[in-house]
Amino acid sequence: MFYEILKRRRSIRKFQDREIEDNQIELLLKAALLSPSSRGIRPWEFIMIEDAKTLETLAGSKPHGAGFLKGAAVGIAIIAETSKSDVWVEDTSIAAAILLLMAEELGMGACWCQIRNRKYDEKSSASDFVRKTLQIPDKYEVEAIIGIGYPDEQKRPYVDQDLLYDKVHQGIFGRKRYEA
Ligand SMILES: Cc1cc2nc3c(=O)[nH]c(=O)nc-3n(C[C@H](O)[C@H](O)[C@H](O)COP(=O)(O)O)c2cc1C
Repeated sequence: MFYEILKRRRSIRKFQDREIEDNQIELLLKAALLSPSSRGIRPWEFIMIEDAKTLETLAGSKPHGAGFLKGAAVGIAIIAETSKSDVWVEDTSIAAAILLLMAEELGMGACWCQIRNRKYDEKSSASDFVRKTLQIPDKYEVEAIIGIGYPDEQKRPYVDQDLLYDKVHQGIFGRKRYEA
C-alpha cells in the first residue's frame, strides 16, 4: 500500500558500495518524467550523475548538507529553464519528491540536497558551483540533487503517532479537526 511507502521513506545519507542496476535507474527516470507539472509544461530536466568523482565534487556544493552525495551510487540533478514556467520551483520539487518515493519503492534510500537559494561560500551560490561542475547553461536554475543508493543505515519508519494532527484545521482556520 502506498501509505506504507510513505511511512517507510526516510532521508538516507549512508549508502552501500553497490551499483544500481540499469533497469532500476530507468525506472527512477521514468518516475521523474511522469511528474505532473503546471499546465503540463514540464520545465524540468534531469542530469544523471553516476561518476563517483563528480559526485564527490558535488558533495562540496555547499558547506553543510551536501556531503552525503559523496557516497551515493547516483545523483540526479533536477534543473529547470526558469523562463519556461513561473512555477518551476513547484514543478521541480514535485519531481524530486516522486524520485524520493520511487527510490523507496525500489528498496533504495535517497536524500534531497537543496541547491536553489543555498550558498557555496560568501561570494558564490551553490547553483553556480553545480552549473559549472555539470556544464549547465546559465538560463537553467538548479533546484536540488537527489542522492540515491542502496541504504547502509536503518531509520525507524514513521508511525501514526508522529503525525502532527494539530496542523489540520476543520472548515476554518483555528478550528481543530483532531483533539490533542
Ligand atoms: C526541500 C528540502 C530540502 C532538503 N535539503 C536537504 C539538504 O540540503 N541536505 C540534507 O542532508 N537533507 C536535506 N533534506 C532532507 C530533510 O532534512 C529531511 O527530509 C527531514 O529532516 C525529515 O527527515 P526524513 O526525510 O527522514 O523524514 C531536505 C528536504 C527537503 C524536503
